[in-house]
Amino acid sequence: TRTQVAIVGGGPAGLLLSHLLHRVGIDSVVVDHRSVDEIETTHRAGILEPDSVRLLTDTGVYAAGQERVLTEGDRHGGIYLRFGGESHHLDFEDLVGASVWLYPQTEVFVDLHRARVRDGGDLRYGISQTAVSDVETAPRVAYVDADGAQHEVLADMVVGADGSRSVCRDLVVGNERFFREYPFAWFGILCEAPKSSSELIYARSDRGFALISQRTESVQRMYFQCDPQEDPGAWSDDRIWSELQHRLAGADGYRLQEGPVIEKSVLPFRSFVQTPMQHGRLVLAGDAAHTVPPTGAKGLNLALQDVKVLAEVIEQVMVEGDDAALAGYTDRALARVWKAQHFSYWMTTMLHRGDGSSEFDERRQLGELASLVSSRAGATYLAEGYTGWPQ
Ligand code: DHB
Repeated sequence: TRTQVAIVGGGPAGLLLSHLLHRVGIDSVVVDHRSVDEIETTHRAGILEPDSVRLLTDTGVYAAGQERVLTEGDRHGGIYLRFGGESHHLDFEDLVGASVWLYPQTEVFVDLHRARVRDGGDLRYGISQTAVSDVETAPRVAYVDADGAQHEVLADMVVGADGSRSVCRDLVVGNERFFREYPFAWFGILCEAPKSSSELIYARSDRGFALISQRTESVQRMYFQCDPQEDPGAWSDDRIWSELQHRLAGADGYRLQEGPVIEKSVLPFRSFVQTPMQHGRLVLAGDAAHTVPPTGAKGLNLALQDVKVLAEVIEQVMVEGDDAALAGYTDRALARVWKAQHFSYWMTTMLHRGDGSSEFDERRQLGELASLVSSRAGATYLAEGYTGWPQ
């Protein structure tokens, strides 16, 4: 097959890029070793910045009047920070005039996938042995389909939107990589229970962090800080609820609404950036180039913003023959990435229990949270980061 842009990775980033390129008459082929079903059932974060919502509603992903993100998603005007056994509301509408949307990443994928199928997109899921070559001259993507047949896609450009275990990122010659590991992970659950809160609760406790999120009226999403080696099988429903209740408990008598745990898993936790995000006719987008810890839900939002910039860059290259635009991509994308790296790191360290943290560390952390919620400047800083920075 010959195409203009070969996209490795058919998650939200790869699909949105394929969609935006289609809108300006550039064709693409998307390959992914996962099946559609596998992607649809892998739970990820659930918070969209207003710019991410606009990328879905204002680019023809939905038919007019059918914007699922607006009808199925929940607009949240703020969050609660909970520490010292008390909740403090941060009102983003009041602080920065913006809201976020609770709309799971799996639903973003469903919507984008539906839009690409509707528009006749060339999507090849469930393939294996992807091999990308000749990225400096005439890129080729070879793979084996589900029936064992060998295929090759010849393209003018190739995009690595292949996630945190990217193979494309290794093809960037002379790359630099920056890492930070954390001594903890998140234990994530889905449960069948009514909502415990109308908005998200980010809780700091003596036993570590917990996050109360939602999915629907009857299914909720919650997380708590745990050891990276934790075995989900070792956690009965009773043990999970007792841990979560402990971390949310306070003098105000707050209690979570309990119910059967229907899914549990341990989420990895790290910060990572690779630069540059481009080499020859290869460009990277999303987790392939950068990973953030989940606190603050920046991962998907960053990936979608990369794609927004990348769609413009690719149009300049393919339509106007402006190769200089390609070289500028890394700096444009990384400006936002490093802000989000800091934000995710900061939210994480402010709310989690460090390894062997001392009494001083504990009290300093409470001091930081107290100054944040008692200062309009402090609260505004958090609100700006949470709702997203202008491009
Ligand atoms: C969710 C996940 C996050 O990491 C976060 O900061 C907020 C919400 C979620 O899955 O709902």
